[in-house]
Amino acid sequence: MTDVVVGKVSEFGDPGRKVVDVRGKEIGIFQLDKTFYAYHNSCPHMDGPVCQGIVLPLTTEDVDPETCKGLGRGFSKKHTNIVCPWHGMEFDIRTGEHPTDAQFRLRKIPVRVEKDLVYVTV
Ligand code: FES
Repeated sequence: MTDVVVGKVSEFGDPGRKVVDVRGKEIGIFQLDKTFYAYHNSCPHMDGPVCQGIVLPLTTEDVDPETCKGLGRGFSKKHTNIVCPWHGMEFDIRTGEHPTDAQFRLRKIPVRVEKDLVYVTV
């Protein structure tokens, strides 16, 4: 295992993302609320370039428990997802998990910050 610098903290937005090639492997590095997350850029569905998809808050819908009628849609304040550009599967950036199907999850890569530099361990 080797630590590789993938940029300065200041080069990432918050929320922000970079997709880099490290020794022939594409890695997506995300910053959310001053915390970094990194994943292989390979979707668990069909290997699409998941880390290059759009970043969105999880869409929610309130439902009346009596009638099961929808009361309107909104966006989660707790969950931010990456949406795979091939078929639209979504994954929580903080956990790498699909919102409803635990068999689908992104493969994590260790990431850390040291002296304003972002490192991944590959
Ligand atoms: S390859 Fe990502 S949703 Fe299909």
